[in-house]
Amino acid sequence: MRSYTLVAPAKINLYLEIIGDRPDGYHELVMILQSIDLADQIDLHAGGNDNIRVRCDHPQVPLDGSNIAYRAAKLMATEFSEAFAKYGGVDITIHKHIPVAAGLAGGSTNAAAVLLGMNLLWNLGLTQSELEELGATLGSDVPFCVAGGTALATGRGEQLSVLPSLDKIYLVLGKYRSLEVSTAWAYKSYRQQFGSSYIRDQNDLAARAAAVHSGPMVKAILHQDGVEIGQKLHNDLERVVLPTYPQVLRLREIFASTGVLGTMMSGSGPSVFALCESKEQAEQVKLEVRERIPDEDLELFVTRMITHGIQVISSV
Ligand code: C5P
Repeated sequence: MRSYTLVAPAKINLYLEIIGDRPDGYHELVMILQSIDLADQIDLHAGGNDNIRVRCDHPQVPLDGSNIAYRAAKLMATEFSEAFAKYGGVDITIHKHIPVAAGLAGGSTNAAAVLLGMNLLWNLGLTQSELEELGATLGSDVPFCVAGGTALATGRGEQLSVLPSLDKIYLVLGKYRSLEVSTAWAYKSYRQQFGSSYIRDQNDLAARAAAVHSGPMVKAILHQDGVEIGQKLHNDLERVVLPTYPQVLRLREIFASTGVLGTMMSGSGPSVFALCESKEQAEQVKLEVRERIPDEDLELFVTRMITHGIQVISSV
């Protein structure tokens, strides 16, 4: 095959707790990650020369070595130099639907799609866990994007335990186009303000992660209980992002006043989602929020939870 087209879904965080510092400068996290039916499309084409080239229809997405999808292709070329010599470079075309710099892992899921696609394009036969391991060197969310579905993530976010999948739970997602939050800034601010409460002892860190694993949110997921999931949503990064971005706080407050199952910022924001009982309720909430915030800069999506990560939709 010379070309693959893949679908690369976004994720939301149903749970994000910052529990400690790490020697590598990152944070120890306990998260519950969920794939959603809002996805980019990635076309991969064997280039026939030794170039890696990225195209994208979104003006904010860089096309050079700072693009994580480009870095994913470069990583494959370095790790599998014989395949690179045999098959040559790759043309990557990203059709962007996931809002950029939104806390939805848009870049990470593009990188995951490139890893999966190049594994096929170059007949490498890598397993999912090998792809996840490669992904972890690119970014903390990339392994989850390879796996998809519903998972508990610990460590930097790269150590995954699969949870029972959720699907058919609908949500409305809001993101101000012009608003971007730097993930590094959000974590740094959190450390400055709340670092003194971090758990220092390794055993206590493991115990905290285990407590979340057997805690109320995972129980709610086991029971597929949307009401309970809505009540147990949690994201520590709201503590630094919401006070800094009043627009995001207001959006969250408006979602909360519409009678949804629960609302929360995703990742480091600034996207905010609201869980709904049905597609109809989600459409209704979208209309209501649009009426109350008639600002064209605010993008609103109705989407739902899905049980998969990257999928190949065609090959030629
Ligand atoms: O891993 P990724 O490149 O997505 O992380 C972006 C930034 O977020 C990191 O540079 C770091 O500042 C912060 N981060 C963190 N702890 C994590 C994940 C991310 O401090 N577990």
